[in-house]
Amino acid sequence: MPFFSTGRLNILYCESIGEIMAIHEIRHPLIRHKLGIMRSADLSTKSFRELAQEISALLTYEATKDFPLENTTIKGWCGNVVVEKIAGKKVTVVPILRAGIGMLEGVLSLVPGAKVSAVGIARNEETLEAATYLKKLVDDLDQRIALIIDPMLATGGSMVATIDMLKAAGCREIRALVLVAAPVGIEKVLSIHPDVEIYTASVDEGLNENGYIIPGLGDAGDRIFGTR
Ligand code: PRP
Ligand code: URA
Repeated sequence: MPFFSTGRLNILYCESIGEIMAIHEIRHPLIRHKLGIMRSADLSTKSFRELAQEISALLTYEATKDFPLENTTIKGWCGNVVVEKIAGKKVTVVPILRAGIGMLEGVLSLVPGAKVSAVGIARNEETLEAATYLKKLVDDLDQRIALIIDPMLATGGSMVATIDMLKAAGCREIRALVLVAAPVGIEKVLSIHPDVEIYTASVDEGLNENGYIIPGLGDAGDRIFGTR
């Protein structure tokens, strides 16, 4: 699958639908450095967790950079002053449990007023099919921008299931933040949901025979929660 890099926006030719699509691969030095440390097999659970939250905050910074602003007048120390505030829709952060929890604090550190819509999806390790076991969404999804968070976008099954669920509940603007993405997963998401914007710290090489991203991070949920 060919990629053409134009700075932070990678252009992906999606073979299944014959269209060119865009993915935001944020190649900032801080992100590259932190992700490099996360790839080490020897990293402690504590460090892995901290870095996941730090990169998530940096991805949030990028994923919100086009949020519209409006002027408002407030009382400042020397009288009235016109300041800017974010206008328009509010945000709901959508962690895909369990591993998505490992990004939540980082995202909320930048959008502290956001409501959280939790989605529980487990990937069957043999079939790689995504099965939903929890859905706890905010009730005004039609008025919110959803920021879906999950460290890993592998086959794309979990992400597509989450987007399907959010759209069925009325959500109209969705962005996906993932630490690492496989090209096949990106293609699956964008071919089904071309309106969704994907932000990632890295587009990796591909998947191994067990559906794990290579070089990837291993099992992100296990590394965040310290389970095996
Ligand atoms: C992992 C990961 C994604 C999914 C990605 O979760 O956090 O949700 O797999 O794979 P996919 O793109 O092929 O669907 P997993 O189902 O292992 O559950 P966990 O979060 O409980 O570890
Ligand atoms: N889930 C993970 O945690 N890691 C992968 O590489 C793929 C799916």
